[in-house]
Amino acid sequence: MLHVPATADLWWKNAIIYCLDVQTFADSDGDGIGDFGGLTQHVDDLAGLGVTCIWLMPFYPTADHDDGYDVTDHYAIDPRLGTFGDFTEFMAVARDRGLRVIADLVVNHTSDQHAWFRESRKSRESRHRDWYVWQDAIPDDGPEGVVFPGEQSGVWTFDTETGQYYLHRFYHHQPDLNIANHQVRDEIAKVIGFWLAQGLSGFRVDAVPFLLELDGIDAIDREIGMDPHDYLRDLRAFIQRRNGDAILLGEVNLPFEEQRRFFGDEDGDELTMLFDFIGMQSIYLAMARGDARPIVRALRQRPEIPDDAAYASFLRNHDELTLDKLTDGERDEVFAAFGPEPDMQLYGRGLRRRLPTMLGGDQQWLRMAYSLMFAMPGAPTLFYGEEIGMGENLAIEDRLAVRTPMQWTSGPAAGFTTAPATAAFRPFPDGDFGPEEVNVASQRTDPDSLLNWFERLIRLRKSAPEIGWGEYRVVDVGNDAVLVLQYCWGDRTAMTVHNLATRAAKVSIPLGVETATLRDRLGSASPIAAKDATASIKIAAHGYHWFAVEPAP
Ligand code: NOJ
Repeated sequence: MLHVPATADLWWKNAIIYCLDVQTFADSDGDGIGDFGGLTQHVDDLAGLGVTCIWLMPFYPTADHDDGYDVTDHYAIDPRLGTFGDFTEFMAVARDRGLRVIADLVVNHTSDQHAWFRESRKSRESRHRDWYVWQDAIPDDGPEGVVFPGEQSGVWTFDTETGQYYLHRFYHHQPDLNIANHQVRDEIAKVIGFWLAQGLSGFRVDAVPFLLELDGIDAIDREIGMDPHDYLRDLRAFIQRRNGDAILLGEVNLPFEEQRRFFGDEDGDELTMLFDFIGMQSIYLAMARGDARPIVRALRQRPEIPDDAAYASFLRNHDELTLDKLTDGERDEVFAAFGPEPDMQLYGRGLRRRLPTMLGGDQQWLRMAYSLMFAMPGAPTLFYGEEIGMGENLAIEDRLAVRTPMQWTSGPAAGFTTAPATAAFRPFPDGDFGPEEVNVASQRTDPDSLLNWFERLIRLRKSAPEIGWGEYRVVDVGNDAVLVLQYCWGDRTAMTVHNLATRAAKVSIPLGVETATLRDRLGSASPIAAKDATASIKIAAHGYHWFAVEPAP
């Protein structure tokens, strides 16, 4: 049965997503700041790596108090990153190389420097007044809890100009837009339509649960009976009308029970994809314990999702590695294993490190971890620099520690800019993870490098659509350290085996069919013939295998 044609339609189910920030990727004009011209020069590197979709972090004009997530104009390019022409050239090159591009859609809030908010705060009669959420007094039934403990004192700030409080779920300089106002909803649609017209294939939607939250907004200002999920449905319908295969990939870090709603339950008419925050956290706990059971638990608790929807799997993103869905005790285990120093931790819930430093540079472990992430049912998502094993620079404040410039070469300023390294947008890490040791140029020519290994892993994952499309099941092999996942799709069956422990193991895998051969798809092991419906395999410490399960000849 030929299933491959189906994969051309719902491209996101088998996508390899690559997140980058233009300002830290490559600088073309020597001012020390990455730009679209520099990114365009490196599109071939990304195409060569094999990723299929670039996710651009915010590139809009910004007040830059939250690294671009504080937008001052939703219809323009940050002039530091180039011109609109430079953006368009980048899009043309990406398209030519067969890469899709999605971008951050940040519409829960704007910068307080945005023209809409400056207008809104001018007077209570301003025509933009109701575009934000204003109150005379902090309401008792308003939202609670700050997102950035230690950096935020509350979610309401008093504005002396008009003597009212405005709501901000994030920093005080990021006032929340009022989505109960239909003009705001129309404007957000316009923003979406605008960027789709520039060729984007969709959006990574920032802070979705906060965007939909109506707490703190007076009932009187709300459209009668407004259900915020209707709004998400409207957005999805709108985006689909403008571009049939554009996606909404949502940042929704909520418990599993609440996630299904964001996919649109059985109708599947809200978000196309959600990041798998819980699966991600379970992998860290499993690695800290050398025990696969936390991942098994997470996979078993995962809700059934609509046929066309998908999760996006990841191990790191641009924020702190949040461990908020673990219990306090579990989180302490991960902290102890991967970030014991207080300076490595953030907000009491996360780590501001990249994976290679957490694993002490252990290549075998690192590759097992990424192989496992790629084997999770979903679309693998990488954060720039993961493909070469970049580390963080803890000397940089807060979450920015993992957002250092891309390390292209061992030469001056890591080939990121022609400006002196001291003028680079952010300081590079030094030591074992500095550009001399970790860079694209030297890994490109080394067949055993992480970069070339990633290229092989990506090629393999792209040719294993059964992982994104098929039914998966956890196969019990009687060893808690070893995770065996089986995926069936039509006549294709794949099986991945990962050993979370530092001890080699031997496992017998029940196959459910009398005779079969396991063909190694990533390594070069000889085919394993199953006997009595069981395949016996040896797996190294932190070993990993990808098998095609084929009928015995
Ligand atoms: C989530 C983003 O990932 C984070 O970096 C940002 O600070 C907040 N949303 C606010 O936009």
